[in-house]
Amino acid sequence: MSEWGTNIQQHVKDLRPVSLIVILVVAIGLGWWLKSLHLPTTFKIPGPWYLKFTNLCVIYVEALGHRREWIHQLHLKYGPVVQIAHNEVSFVSYTAAKQIYVSGSKDFEKTDFYDIFQQRGHINLFTARDPHVHAKIKKPLADRYSNSNILKSKVMDSIAERAQEFVKQCLATRSADVYLYLHAYALDCVTSMLFHPYNAHSLDRKHDRDMVHLFSYANVREGNYYFPALMSVYYAMVPGQQDKRTRGRDQLRRYMDETLAKSDHSDFTLVSRLKSLEDFPESLTRAECMDHMGAGVETTGDCLCFLLRELSQPRSGPIVMSLRRELQTATSQQDLANLSYLNAVVQEALRLWAPGTLTLPRHVPSGGRLIDGYMIPGNIIVGVPSYSLHRLDYAFSEPFKFIPERWLNDEGSVDRQRVFLPFGGGSRQCIGKFLAQAEMRSLLHAVYSRYRTIPAKDMDACMDLDDQVLVSRPKGTSCKLEFVPAEA
Ligand code: HEM
Repeated sequence: MSEWGTNIQQHVKDLRPVSLIVILVVAIGLGWWLKSLHLPTTFKIPGPWYLKFTNLCVIYVEALGHRREWIHQLHLKYGPVVQIAHNEVSFVSYTAAKQIYVSGSKDFEKTDFYDIFQQRGHINLFTARDPHVHAKIKKPLADRYSNSNILKSKVMDSIAERAQEFVKQCLATRSADVYLYLHAYALDCVTSMLFHPYNAHSLDRKHDRDMVHLFSYANVREGNYYFPALMSVYYAMVPGQQDKRTRGRDQLRRYMDETLAKSDHSDFTLVSRLKSLEDFPESLTRAECMDHMGAGVETTGDCLCFLLRELSQPRSGPIVMSLRRELQTATSQQDLANLSYLNAVVQEALRLWAPGTLTLPRHVPSGGRLIDGYMIPGNIIVGVPSYSLHRLDYAFSEPFKFIPERWLNDEGSVDRQRVFLPFGGGSRQCIGKFLAQAEMRSLLHAVYSRYRTIPAKDMDACMDLDDQVLVSRPKGTSCKLEFVPAEA
């Protein structure tokens, strides 16, 4: 035996049994960890090699609010399939979106990430992971949010009335903070669907407006999700911060108690339906309503805010003119749903500004699945970021530009529709999508049939996309515009 071999033998002999056990445990742990990485399979998936060993990078960029852009850059560099963590793969393709969200919507279950949206421990429509539980919750809710129910005149009238109130509030000043008013509008509209005639009046009643603060100004990313303990200390120590975080919470609780105690809600509302069901407990009704308020305020409010800001730029002059000409032909709220240019403006806004921050994460079913030519092991998290999907340049030329006309062009329309995913897909797609679009159309009608908007003189807020946990909102949480009569 060589001198080297004798030395090794001597070292092994010198080791105490305790050390041997430690080495054995570490070796087993290392082996188990390496096996869990599925390296022989995942090494074939494009992406930086070091991301195959950890999810720390993704946690880090998420905590800083850079996840959306970071993933987008990785896709630009590595193509439509990228491994972004040892347990997560991102796809940007129509085929993957279809497989994961549409045909596989019962197979590819939501991950435990969604648990943070449970309301006081209650599973609700949004958070249910088991497809059977989800289907059971959805059954009594679905027809309330159907397009035909939303387009009923009672629903549309209440939305139109709120849109007029929005304009009234904005006209009262030469510098209207539409970030605040649009979120107030979204809250009033979604609570109309839930509780009419006891919907919130946050546009015109100050105490209802406090609820908007809770939904649209609180720091969701660091405060509630990534560093809750650390941020609690910060909120407690820095004057004014606790108020920012909790302002409106008491008002929201009071509002829910008082509103749910009523018994004469309009027949089109969600609550009238849920109250008529014997086996739907009040605590679940409350949890569901809270969730729909949360889901319906930021999403619609943020998207409208980016849209109004875009329509206020001088470059949007021709778009606003075309929009106005068409809006002035409408004779009823129902007519709005059939206006092609208006719908194109809404679609284009949803393409650019509705996408969520996260990739709607799903688990690959056990046994693994072949997605876009790559074998993805079971239990790995997969998702399709709509931010990147909506910027695929083969489907959207000049993808970062706001061009409503693209939606009116027959050429390429199949490609565009296939990669358009603002509301998710399959059985888990957004239940509020018809409500959100009706709100957007009504608001655009109330504003641009009679007015144009320009940036207010004191508009200096940053309008970059700022990622929260699921949505991306304007970074400055403010957008000041001036409303000018269209003839002027
Ligand atoms: C522009 C506005 C909106 C956008 C972009 C949007 C987007 C989305 C997306 C992408 C999903 C799928 C989430 C996933 O699969 O993980 C979703 C689900 C959902 N949304 Fe919306 N949403 C909007 C407005 C609304 C409104 C107004 C409501 C009010 C009712 C609402 C209630 C919900 C609910 C309850 C779900 C869960 C559906 C299910 O799992 O069956 N959303 N939304």
